[in-house]
Amino acid sequence: MIIEQIKTHLKDVNDFQSTESQEIQNFRQNYLGKKGILNSLFASFRDIPNEEKKEVGKWINDLKVAVNEKVDSLQNSVAPKTSNTKNDEDLSKTPFPFPVGARHPINIVIDKINTIFSRIGYSVVEGPEIEDDWHNFTALNFTENHPARDMQDTFFVEKDMNSLLRTHTSSVQIRHMKDNQPPMRILSPGRVFRNEAISARSHCIFHQIEGLYIDKNVSFADLKNTLQYFTKALFGKSKIRLRPSYFPFTEPSAEVDVYWGLETETDYKITKGTGWLEIIGCGMVDPNVLENCNIDPDKYSGFAFGMGIERIAMLLYQIPDIRMFYENDIRFLKQFSTEV
Ligand code: DAH
Repeated sequence: MIIEQIKTHLKDVNDFQSTESQEIQNFRQNYLGKKGILNSLFASFRDIPNEEKKEVGKWINDLKVAVNEKVDSLQNSVAPKTSNTKNDEDLSKTPFPFPVGARHPINIVIDKINTIFSRIGYSVVEGPEIEDDWHNFTALNFTENHPARDMQDTFFVEKDMNSLLRTHTSSVQIRHMKDNQPPMRILSPGRVFRNEAISARSHCIFHQIEGLYIDKNVSFADLKNTLQYFTKALFGKSKIRLRPSYFPFTEPSAEVDVYWGLETETDYKITKGTGWLEIIGCGMVDPNVLENCNIDPDKYSGFAFGMGIERIAMLLYQIPDIRMFYENDIRFLKQFSTEV
């Protein structure tokens, strides 16, 4: 009976032992070679009655599996191959792909905003991070005892409290107006510093972007249109509202809310159920500020606006914690590698 034959072969296979490479090869050849046992078993398979084919087929297959397993396990225990794998490496291969860095989300957002405003004639002007009291406060119409000058908010560099880390990018307006005459349209992105407790929502170092437009006959309507153009271009949302507010350097001043919508659960969360998000501070430049910079307020008027970059990046990319921007965790950063 063929099954009896196969059982004997199986026993032989299981009993076979060797550590000699050549012997193992011969064993393999004996079973799996062209004229080997398995092929002759397959050949006689044709003559097996149909009703037995299934069972016999299974035994033949078991034998084949057993031979392969035996060969594999014996070859593994034979001394390792002597070939030098180093010589197998292709030295002409290029090193690609190598890891490429990603742009930081803060820079991505700054560039997006710069591009949007450059289309309507704004150019980028930067200023120093270490400022003096005059550019950061006095010229911007902060009265002497204004709470923002308080030690709570400002990091001072010198004991005399004249040299400080700028608390906002509005200081760049002053520098530009001092050195230039209208018309002017500038955008000033940069890092700012405030002595604030670090949490998921605020940090002592963050970024702002400042806008300034001074010319003859600039009106509040121009300000509103400009901001509407901007929110549409950046977020795809043009429904905004301006709420009266106060800044020492603008009069009147306003806070700008964008209608974000209430379509998703996240929308509810980030807008506290109102649908509205506050993103910009703005106003008409106070005549005192123009005068401080030797610009004639009877001839010229203008508007200014400022916003926090981190907040915008958090909205655009659904980043839940401001501290993620500064941790340099590669898993966070590489998610922006496809952004341009
Ligand atoms: N400097 C303000 C801040 O840090 C933001 C701001 C508000 C800037 C109104 C402006 C403005 O230019 O007009 O909170």
